Amino acid sequence: MSTGTEGDILCFFINGKKVTENHADPETMLLSFLRQKLRLTGTKSGCGGGGCGACTVMVSRYQPATKTIIHFSANACLLPLCQLHGAAITTVEGIGSTKTRIHPVQERIAKAHGSQCGFCTPGMVMAMYALLRNKPQPSMEDITNALAGNLCRCTGYRPIVDGCRTFCQEANCCRVSGNGNGCLNGGSPADEAVHESPQLFDKEEFLPLDPTQELIFPPELILMTEKDNPQTLTFHGERISWVSPVSLEELVQLKTRNPKAPLVMGNTNIGPDIKFKGVLHPLIISPTRVKELFEVTHTPKGVWLGAGCTLAEVRSLLEKKVPQFPEEKTELFRALIQQLGNLGSQQIRNVASLGGQIISAYPNSDLNPVLAAGKCKVSVISNGGRREVPLNQDFFVGFCKTALKPEEVIVSVFIPFSRKGEFVRVFRQAPRKETSFATVTTGMRVFFCEGSRVVQDVSIYYGGMAATTVSATKTCAAIVTRPWDDETLGRAYDVLLDELVLPPSAPGGKVEFRRSLSLSFLFKFNLEVLQKLREMNVIKDELSERMQIRPLPRDIQPGLQEFQHVSKGQSSQDPVGRPMMHRSAISQATGEAVYCDDMPTTDGELFLSVVTSARAHAKITGLDVSEALRLPGVVDVITSKDIPGKKVQTMFGYPDELLAQSEVSCIGQMVCAVVADTREHAKRGAAAVKISYEDLPDPVFTIEEAVEKSSFYEPRRTLERGNVSEAFKTVDQIYEGGIQMGGQEHFYMETQSMLVVPVGEETEFNLYVSTQWPTLTQDVVCETLGIPSNRVTCHVKRIGGAFGGKLSKTSILASITAVAAWKTNRAVRCVLERGEDMLITGGRHPVLGKYKVGLMKDGRIVAADFQYYSNAGNTVDESLPVVEKMILHMDTAYNIPNLRGSGAACRTNLPSNTAFRGFGVPQSLLIVENMIEDVAMLLGRPADQIRDINMYKGPSVTHYKFEFSPENLLRCWDECKIKAEFSARRRAADQFNQQNRWKKRGVSIIPIKYGVAFADSFLNQAAALVHIYKDGSVLVTHAGTEMGQGIHTKMQQVASRELHIPPSKIYISETSTNTVPNTCPSAASFGTDANGMAVLNACQTLYQRLKPMRERNPKGSWEKWVNDAFFEKISLSATGFYRGPDLYFDWDKMEGLPYAYFVYGACCSEVELDCLTGDYRTLRTDIVVDIGRSLNPSVDIGQIEGAFMQGLGLYTMEELKFSPSGLLYTRGPSQYKIPAVCDVPLRFNVHLLSDTDNPHAIYSSKGIGEPVLFLGSSVFFAIKDAAAAARSESGLVGPFTLNSPATPERACLACSSPFTQKIPASKPGSFKPWALDI
Ligand SMILES: Cc1cc2nc3c(=O)[nH]c(=O)nc-3n(C[C@H](O)[C@H](O)[C@H](O)COP(=O)(O)OP(=O)(O)OC[C@H]3O[C@@H](n4cnc5c(N)ncnc54)[C@H](O)[C@@H]3O)c2cc1C
Ligand code: FES
Ligand code: FES
Repeated sequence: MSTGTEGDILCFFINGKKVTENHADPETMLLSFLRQKLRLTGTKSGCGGGGCGACTVMVSRYQPATKTIIHFSANACLLPLCQLHGAAITTVEGIGSTKTRIHPVQERIAKAHGSQCGFCTPGMVMAMYALLRNKPQPSMEDITNALAGNLCRCTGYRPIVDGCRTFCQEANCCRVSGNGNGCLNGGSPADEAVHESPQLFDKEEFLPLDPTQELIFPPELILMTEKDNPQTLTFHGERISWVSPVSLEELVQLKTRNPKAPLVMGNTNIGPDIKFKGVLHPLIISPTRVKELFEVTHTPKGVWLGAGCTLAEVRSLLEKKVPQFPEEKTELFRALIQQLGNLGSQQIRNVASLGGQIISAYPNSDLNPVLAAGKCKVSVISNGGRREVPLNQDFFVGFCKTALKPEEVIVSVFIPFSRKGEFVRVFRQAPRKETSFATVTTGMRVFFCEGSRVVQDVSIYYGGMAATTVSATKTCAAIVTRPWDDETLGRAYDVLLDELVLPPSAPGGKVEFRRSLSLSFLFKFNLEVLQKLREMNVIKDELSERMQIRPLPRDIQPGLQEFQHVSKGQSSQDPVGRPMMHRSAISQATGEAVYCDDMPTTDGELFLSVVTSARAHAKITGLDVSEALRLPGVVDVITSKDIPGKKVQTMFGYPDELLAQSEVSCIGQMVCAVVADTREHAKRGAAAVKISYEDLPDPVFTIEEAVEKSSFYEPRRTLERGNVSEAFKTVDQIYEGGIQMGGQEHFYMETQSMLVVPVGEETEFNLYVSTQWPTLTQDVVCETLGIPSNRVTCHVKRIGGAFGGKLSKTSILASITAVAAWKTNRAVRCVLERGEDMLITGGRHPVLGKYKVGLMKDGRIVAADFQYYSNAGNTVDESLPVVEKMILHMDTAYNIPNLRGSGAACRTNLPSNTAFRGFGVPQSLLIVENMIEDVAMLLGRPADQIRDINMYKGPSVTHYKFEFSPENLLRCWDECKIKAEFSARRRAADQFNQQNRWKKRGVSIIPIKYGVAFADSFLNQAAALVHIYKDGSVLVTHAGTEMGQGIHTKMQQVASRELHIPPSKIYISETSTNTVPNTCPSAASFGTDANGMAVLNACQTLYQRLKPMRERNPKGSWEKWVNDAFFEKISLSATGFYRGPDLYFDWDKMEGLPYAYFVYGACCSEVELDCLTGDYRTLRTDIVVDIGRSLNPSVDIGQIEGAFMQGLGLYTMEELKFSPSGLLYTRGPSQYKIPAVCDVPLRFNVHLLSDTDNPHAIYSSKGIGEPVLFLGSSVFFAIKDAAAAARSESGLVGPFTLNSPATPERACLACSSPFTQKIPASKPGSFKPWALDI
C-alpha cells in the first residue's frame, strides 16, 4: 500500500483522451471536474443529488474476469472523481458535435423537437446513448426505463420519446414520424388520409445508427486493468483522504483501524449526505476494486451475491437465473426483480450497491423489506472473522442504523430459493410512479403446507411505516397456523392497524394514507395468494372479474399532432407556418449551446454564495462573519451596509430589502453573501456565518391564519356583473363550497445563474444573467449601485427554463452579485444550488377558493360569488397583479349572468411567491371548474352537460364588459368531444367502473378562454435591431429572451419572410440591453406578438431600402443587392418598434380592455385510478387549441404539450411542504416531484384548430406560452370523476372535497375504500402536524 501524503496518480479517459490527475481531491465529483477543470460544459448540473439526470454521462469499464467491456449511464454529480481510476467516460461532447458529425441520438432528439430550453437535452442524449451502446434496437420499455431518471420541464417528454422511438424496432414504431404515422422501417401507413397531413419532422432525414462508429474503449485501460498487481490508491484533498484497497484483507484492516470511515460504493447515500447535510468524513474507503465484494456463488439453497454488485447487476443476474429454475423456486428472485425495476433511476441503479442499500437502512428502503421477508442473510467480515447475520427485525435497529458493528463489512448477501407453496410479493406506492422513494413499500411472504390453505410460515415487512424497515410480527402471528381465508385476513387487518401505528405528527406526514396503504397492500397480497391457491387447486371458488386488480397500463403509444398545411401559394423558401426546428436544438443536443454558467471563468473571478435566514420572523441580533472570513479562499462577506445605492426596492408601494438589515420575515430570506475563490470555499464560508436572532411573536404561515389576522397586501380587488345578492333570491338551489390549491415550484432546469464582470473603468459592468427581463435586471442593479443605466449592459444568450421565475428574484440576486463585483472589483459569479433556489425564490401562489353558487334545476348557474385568497409570502412581489388576473379570468368559458369575485393577497412569513406561467389563471379556473363539478354532482348530471349549458354562446360580453365572439371556444369544445370520442369513452368508462371494484376510470373535458397581453399597457411594446452585413448575413436582435419557448426561431422565421431570404442567413446571438434598450419582459404569452411585429417593422424598413437595388437588378442575388447598397451608402441597419395595443383596466368602474384577444381550447383526459393506492395513469389526452395561424407548429405544439404537462404536475403531483416553523422541506427533486416520462398520457393527441384567424397578432397567430397549462386540470377532474365512482361503491354521492394537487394520497383517501374507512382520523388541533397546510 502506498501511503505518502502526496497521493497517487489517478488515471482514466474522457472522450478517448487520457486524463492523469496528480492531486485528485476526494471531494470532487466528476461533474465539477468536467465543467470546471476540463471545461466540458455540455454535461449540466440540475440538482447535484442524482435526482434530475441533467448530468448523465456514460461510464465504460473493462472487466478482466470476463474480458468484456461494460457501458452504463451514471449521474456525474454523484460520481467521485477518485473512483474513476481505469474508467472511460463519455460525455455529450464525446459522441458528436457540429464541428465533426452529430450523433444520431443528438440529431433525432433535436429534429423531433425534443429540445426546447435544451438544459435537459445532453442528459437525455446520454441516457439514450448509453442504452443504445448496450442495445442498438431497444424496446419502448427499454427507452422509457432509460429516460425515467431524466427530468425535462419544457417539452412534456412526448417529442423526446418520439425521437428516441425511431431507434426502436417494435411494431408500434410504424406509427411514429412526427404525427403518429409512417414508419422508419418502410412499413406502409395504416391510414392514407392521416399520411397526407403535414408532419412535425421528416424521418427520412435521420442518420442511421452505426454502432461501429462509436469510440472504442481505450486499449491502454485494458492493459492497465489486466496488470497482475493492482496497487492500493490513496488521494488526499483539502479536508478528506481517500483509500481504495485492492484486497478484502486490506479492507478489513482499514475498517478496523477506521471504523467510522464509510465505504463508498455507489456514493448515492454518502454523496448526498456530504453535499446536502454537510457531513464530513475525514477518511473515505472505496472498496470498488475488492474482487470478493463482487463474487456470485451458488448453493443448492440459493445464491450468494457480492455486496458490491450494483442494483442493476443484481437485477440482471436474477433475471438470468429465473428461467434456469422451476417457477416455484424463484418467487423471491422475481419479487426482487420487480422491486429493483422501481427503485431509483437507471443511473442510480447502475452505481448503487446491494450492500450500500442494506446498510443505508432507509426507513423506506425498497429492498430491505423484501430481503427480510424473504429470509435473506448477509455474510459479514471484520477483524474478528466472518459471521452470517439474518436480515430480520433485529437487523434494522433504527433510523439509518443496522445491528452491524461499525468495523464490519458485508461481503455478500444470500438470496434463498423459494419452496413449493411459498409466495413472495412486493408492493410500493410513491409520489411519482418512477424514480421516487416510496411512501410505503412492502415485502410479503407466505408458505403453505402442501395441498393446504393452512399457513405454515409468513413474514411481512414494511418500509415507510416507521423509522426503519419494520416487521408486522403480530399480524404474522395472527395468520400463521390458520387457514388463509376471510376470517383470518379480516383479523389480520385489525391486528395490523393496531400494530403499525403512526403518530399523527409522524415525520413524512401522510399518516392516514400510509396506514391505509399498509392495509391495502395486505389486501392485494391476499388477492394474489388466493389466486395462487386457486391455481394449485387448493381452493375452488373463482374470484369474480370485478374484484381482480390488474396493474395499471403503462405503454406509451404514438400520439397525433395535427396542424394545418401552409397555403398552396406560399413560397417554399418562406418558413412561416412550417414546423421549423428550434434554432439551437442541435447545439443544445451536442452540449455546445452556452448557458450562463457555461461561460469560461475570467481572471480572478470569485463565486458568491448567499446566507439565508433560519427564522421565519425574527430580529437579527447579531451577525458574526469572523469565522467565515478566516476560512481558506474566502475574500469578503457582503451585507446590506455594503450596498452603495438603494438597499430596498419598492414594488406596489411595499418595500423589498435586497439583504435583510435588522429583521427577517421568512426562512430563506437573504441576509448576506460570501464571496470566495471557488464555489466550495464560498459555500463553506456561507455555512460558517453565524446569525443570532430574537424571535418575533406570531408568525403567519397559512392563508387561514392570514385571513383571521387580516394580514393582506392592499388593495384587494372585487368585480361584479349583474346583481349577485339579488340573484341568489331567485334560484332553485344555493350551494357553498371551496377548494384549496397548493403552490408550485418553477423547477426550471437551470437554476438562477449570473455573472457580473466589471469592465474596469467608470463603474461599467457587463452582466450575463439568466433572466426573462434584462431591463429590469439592469434597472435594479443600477439603482443598487447608484449608477446610471448606461454603465450596465445585461446580456442573455439563452435561459435554461424560466416560467416566470426569472424576473424579480433574479434582479435582486444579480444586484447582490453586482455589489460584490463592485466592492471587490472582480468578476463575480452566482449560481444557486437547487435547494437554495427552491428555498429562496418562491413560486406559484397557493390559493384558497370559496364559492357560493345559485343554480336552477335545469343546470343553469344564475349566480356565483367567489372569494380568492392567495398566499403571497413575505413580500408583495407580483402578488397583486396575480390576484387581479385571477378575478379577470373567473368567468372563464361560462356566461354566469350574476358573477362576483373578490381576491386578496395574504401576507405571510413564507418565502415570497411570484410570477408563474398562467399568472393566477390556473388557480382561478380550477376553483370555477370545481364549482361546476359540485353543481353537476348536486344535480346528478354529467359535468360536461353543466359546462355545455352555461358556456358563452353567440355574441358575448365578459364580466368586465369586454365584447367577444365565443365561436372558436365552442368549435374547440365540440371538436375536442369528437376527436376524443368523448361520448363513447364516457360510456366505456362507466362500464369499466361497473366491472371493476378496485379500479375506476374517470373522464373529464375542460374548456379554456385565456386573455393574452399585459393589462399594463406600457408593457405591450417591443423593439428590434436588425443589421445586414456586407456578406449578406443578417443579425437580428430583439427584446425577447430565449428560454426554450422558441422565440428566436420564430423571429428568424419572421425576418426570413420579410427579407425574402432563407433562415440560414439569419442569426440571433443574444438579447442585450445595449442593442435593444428599455425592454419589456418575455411573459404574458406576448413575446412573439410584440417582438415579431418589431422585427417585422425593422425588416420591412430594410427591405424597402433595398428596393432600388432589386428593381435595378431583379435577377441579382441577395448578396449582390446588399453589397450594392453598401457602396451606395445606404444604411443596412434598422431598428423596429411595435407600439402594442392600448390596454387598460379600471377597477373602480369594473370595466376595461385588459387583453388583446383570447386563446381558446378544450382538453379531454381519461385516467385509470387504483382506488386502493391512489396510483393513477393518464390513459389518453386530447387537446384542441385555437392559436390562430400557427407561426411554427412544432414550437407551438411543444408549448402546448409542455404547458399541459406542467399543469398536470401542478394539479396532480407537485406538493410543497413546509415545516410548522416555516421551513420548506421540499428542496430538491427527491422530495418535490415534477412529472417525468412515466407521467405522459399514454396517448397524447394535440390538434390545432383549423381555419382560424387573429387580426390582433403577427401573421394571424396567437400567443401560446401560458394558456394550455390550465388544461392539465382535466387530469385532476378525471381523477375526481374516478374517485366519485369509487365513492358510490360505498354509498357516497354528491359533492366532496378533493384539494389540489390530487396526489395519490388525496385520491386514495377521497375514494373512501373499506381500508381508508378503517383509519381513525386524528382530531385536528390535538397534535402538531409534520407539515403545514399553507
Ligand atoms: C436519486 C436517488 C433515488 C433513490 N431512489 C431509491 C428508491 O426508490 N428506493 C430505495 O430503496 N432507494 C433509493 N435510493 C437509495 C439508494 O438505493 C441507496 O442510496 C443505495 O442503494 C446505496 O448504495 P451505495 O452503493 O450508493 O451506497 P454508498 O453511498 O456508497 O454507501 C452507503 C453506506 O453503505 C455502507 N456500505 C456500502 N457497502 C458496504 C458494505 N459492503 N459493507 C458495509 N457497509 C457498506 C457505507 O459505509 C455507507 O455508510 C435512491 C438514491 C438516490 C440518490
Ligand atoms: S445534477 Fe446530477 S442528477 Fe441532477
Ligand atoms: S428542454 Fe428539457 S428542461 Fe428545457
